[in-house]
Amino acid sequence: MTAAEPDSDKPRSDAKLPRHLAVIMDGNGRWAYRRNRPRHHGHRAGAEAARRVVQGCIDRGIPSVTLFAFSSENWRRPPAEVRMLMELFLRALERETGRLADSGVRLRFIGDHRRLSGALHERMLEAERRTADNRCLALNVAVGYGGRWDIVQAAQALAREVAEGARPPDSLDDNALAERLSLAGQPDPDLFIRTGGERRISNFLIWQLAYTELYFTDLLWPDFDAVELDRALEWFANRERRFGMTTGQMGRNDGA
Ligand code: IPE
Ligand code: IPE
Ligand code: MG
Repeated sequence: MTAAEPDSDKPRSDAKLPRHLAVIMDGNGRWAYRRNRPRHHGHRAGAEAARRVVQGCIDRGIPSVTLFAFSSENWRRPPAEVRMLMELFLRALERETGRLADSGVRLRFIGDHRRLSGALHERMLEAERRTADNRCLALNVAVGYGGRWDIVQAAQALAREVAEGARPPDSLDDNALAERLSLAGQPDPDLFIRTGGERRISNFLIWQLAYTELYFTDLLWPDFDAVELDRALEWFANRERRFGMTTGQMGRNDGA
């Protein structure tokens, strides 16, 4: 159904898939706690859930996904947990890169990677190189990522260009900044999902989420699966995205 058609009783789930899905995978620790297990048990189960959801996105033809794996603030966690998470990322990369490459996934890592170990960083670059020509799914994994960091590094890049005389200050606009953000060239997320019950953005893609539909669920991340993904997609398909306009302008009754 096009925007110009009148409202109908037909479910619209056939019509609208997000072009870009952004996910805060939260609740691993609580999932483990409820089972009387250490937090790393939850993180391992969380990695499995991430694998399922990536496959779900491939199966449904969603072209782009960004997963929040480790925030700039997560460095404040106990050193043993941080170490364990870094170890888990390394193992997951070693285990999954080949399969992802064969499935047509293009892997990219976004974030400030200066604090990562050389071994992990090297693996990440290698996975990016190996999958660079894949077009089936763009999978961005945010590691050491913060939305504020992203905006600051983009602003620094622009400031350097101005200082070098490569561009006048007046030429800076939202496009110029967006082109220097980590996800430059990819559409902004249409749908954001956060599991784990918190209703916050936690310094994720704060610039790119300006007009994203926000979906929150109390489900803990390790319990998230294809059925839950479909639930979120169905909810998304029934949103009316107005981008500042009126319902009437979207071809529907204003009072509806
Ligand atoms: C999300 O789960 C994973 C990371 C932030 C790395 P949490 O570890 O935040 O789980 P909770 O919120 O403590 O349950
Ligand atoms: C957000 O989860 C970051 C990731 C999922 C990687 P947190 O559990 O760190 O978020 P806060 O600190 O509770 O907001
Ligand atoms: Mg959490």
